[in-house]
Amino acid sequence: MSDGCPIYKTNRDAIAVTKTIADIDTPTVLIDIDRVEANLRRAQAHAEQEGYALRPHTKTHKLPQFAKLAIELGAVGITVQKLGEAEVMADAGVTDIFLPYNIIGPLKLARLKALNARITLSVTADSSDSVAGYAATFTADQALTVLVECDSGGGRCGVQTGAQALELARQIIAAPGLRFGGLMTYPPLHGVAKSNAWLSDAIALFDTAGIAVPRVSSGNSPDMWEPAAAPVTERRPGTYIYFDRIEVREKVATLDDCALTVLATVVSRPTATRVVLDTGSKSLSSDLVGMDGYGLVMGTELVIKTLSEEHGVIEMPTPSDWPRIGDRLRIIPNHACVVSNLFDTVTVVSGDNVSGTLKVVGRGRVD
Ligand SMILES: Cc1ncc(COP(=O)(O)O)c(C=O)c1O
Repeated sequence: MSDGCPIYKTNRDAIAVTKTIADIDTPTVLIDIDRVEANLRRAQAHAEQEGYALRPHTKTHKLPQFAKLAIELGAVGITVQKLGEAEVMADAGVTDIFLPYNIIGPLKLARLKALNARITLSVTADSSDSVAGYAATFTADQALTVLVECDSGGGRCGVQTGAQALELARQIIAAPGLRFGGLMTYPPLHGVAKSNAWLSDAIALFDTAGIAVPRVSSGNSPDMWEPAAAPVTERRPGTYIYFDRIEVREKVATLDDCALTVLATVVSRPTATRVVLDTGSKSLSSDLVGMDGYGLVMGTELVIKTLSEEHGVIEMPTPSDWPRIGDRLRIIPNHACVVSNLFDTVTVVSGDNVSGTLKVVGRGRVD
């Protein structure tokens, strides 16, 4: 328990519970703090057992309280996806942040420089253009740590070959205001072995060139229970704090591990089989990611079959009186991270008891 993590303290110190889930309005996001804590602890234990550093990706929750809780449990720092998220986390007191993104243009570089002056920051580059922007901005007295982003099969950003990684590292090393921080990759889904082989081949080139690779950062939630083979030194799972239907499909979590649900009210029963909820794409997102439906009703096999902005429609398999208008259901979304970005606040619960609300301060900080 720590003063640095008020929600953890609030939850654990709660004596008189004044509110339960029945007392709060819908639609709202509920976060089960007991499941959050169990998910964080399990991942941290795995990291320690396998010998890699855990640097959780906070894009999933965008909450400094949970970033600090993960650090308190042993994470080395956090990962964020956007500069705006990094600023929010730094403002809240997080001191070690990895921003695996090419930061492009003078406006953002000025913000990056200001951020680097106050925390331990690292970023990525996958082109000479990115490195040139960093090199022109930073000076030796406040050097920026830059990792080379590698496309080890994921097909997004990243240099395409180990030779290109080495060339970019040489450019970073040659710049007085930059420090070579190592290699970073976002591995392809279920492609850990292939990705690690790519990285190992690249590191062999660095060895031959006599260039040390201080950090090798990889990882996501779908592959998080895979043993962390060399050469990876750090992993960045994000969704694991909440899990969701995707992670359950990928068999890295069970429905009982899912910590984020959207609380919904039945607003219409037009037919004996149709149930309409007050949660549409503006509460659940329209991410299908190959799933059947837009969310699962907790404790049932019912899914939200169709969605408009403020309505979610369930078709019951057989005519049924349940649920009635006014009944409330909890929905496990397909993709928890996008739901976090849709709500200003989340409600923290332990069982049916409400511990309090948290402002999602990183929400909308995609700048
Ligand atoms: C660069 C990077 N690292 C880590 C992650 C975390 O992956 P996951 O959400 O599967 O845990 C993501 C997810 O988008 C990512 O883009």
